[in-house]
Amino acid sequence: MATEFSYFATVPLHMERLLADELTELGAREVQHTVAGVYFKGTLEVGYRALIWTRLANRIVLKLKEVPASTAEELYEGVGTIDWTEHMGVNDTLKVTFTSVRLDSEITHSKYGALTVKDAVVDQFREKTGERPSVDRTQPDLHINCHIDGDQATLSIDLAGRSLHRRSYRKDSGKAPIKENVAAAVLLRAGWPQFSSEGKPLFDPMCGSGTLLIEGALMAGDHAPGLLRDYFGVLKWRQHDADLWDKLIDEASERARAGKSSLPIIKGSDIDKGGLRAARKNAESAGLSEFIELENRPVREIEPPAGPAWPGLMVTNAPYGERLDDDAEAARVHRELGESLRERFPGWKASILTGSEELGRQLGLSAGKVYTLYNGPLECLLLNIDIFHR
Ligand SMILES: C[S@@+](CC[C@H](N)C(=O)[O-])C[C@H]1O[C@@H](n2cnc3c(N)ncnc32)[C@H](O)[C@@H]1O
Repeated sequence: MATEFSYFATVPLHMERLLADELTELGAREVQHTVAGVYFKGTLEVGYRALIWTRLANRIVLKLKEVPASTAEELYEGVGTIDWTEHMGVNDTLKVTFTSVRLDSEITHSKYGALTVKDAVVDQFREKTGERPSVDRTQPDLHINCHIDGDQATLSIDLAGRSLHRRSYRKDSGKAPIKENVAAAVLLRAGWPQFSSEGKPLFDPMCGSGTLLIEGALMAGDHAPGLLRDYFGVLKWRQHDADLWDKLIDEASERARAGKSSLPIIKGSDIDKGGLRAARKNAESAGLSEFIELENRPVREIEPPAGPAWPGLMVTNAPYGERLDDDAEAARVHRELGESLRERFPGWKASILTGSEELGRQLGLSAGKVYTLYNGPLECLLLNIDIFHR
């Protein structure tokens, strides 16, 4: 039987349940969500599938060992009980990140914690070989994560290496882009997988750099987000199974190729030409430019995309009005969006990510369901609305 590993996936707050469902679908076992993360178990294949297919997680780490860490000496000793030659060579580079919750340890500075772990690994190599591996903070061969909960440290390998929300298609970010994994959460909460499977259109009338449209196309086209990335922390790990990885990448490439033949209409518009230029560039780098239609248009003039007259799904990330002088403008845009939807989108479903209840009220539409999501540090509301015939 293949070896089972314990994994932990990190995710923005309020997206934990969505991630737990996604991981379960990818074959994970003993899936348990906690604050901003999900524990799961599975074979290496399950971990690899999660890395390649997750639309929601930021990082996925594979647990090596738990060690006591009430003092730096204890942590140093504990790190030394792992045979690091099983995970990297002396000529490979490493990076250590350090996180903590409920600290009950004298190690209160994350830099100090990371340094202690790094020293313990490097000293082990020096004792064994007389040489020491060096540090690479941007693209290390092995990325070690040390997480302290109370006075216990969990040492893991960060298989992602760089946050998985960075899919590599974003060449230009526009003004206030939504994070790629938060966009995926919006689309899942909006019910996009159901709409797309029925061939219904997706429309974002304030698309900016196009993140919701691109994530929507990837989802509808069965396209794994990981296919777009060229770096994963796992690829230089000594126990990496390159044959298994290549097999899963080939399978994902085949599914992406097949998925492109059945994409529904995906359209975006925006008042800002700069945002649309960014959207065009990003769609191109995701290989999706021929499937995403873009138009320069203010929200008060939007029309449902041309095509069969089925009602579809409108999703958007409305301007928040973060600065005081933007507030009135953001409120006006919400009012205009609400008017356009009431007048020209009866029968459609709308899912609107907005900065506050007050801004949401400006839409003049009542939400059937409201979710909280974080876009970076900003707490936002996602309003799911049925647009009724008048
Ligand atoms: C929060 S940003 C959307 C960011 C986008 N989701 C992304 O990932 O890049 C809000 C967008 O609304 C657009 N916008 C503001 N007022 C508008 C209006 N009256 N009509 C159409 N678009 C408008 C802005 O140009 C901006 O691109």
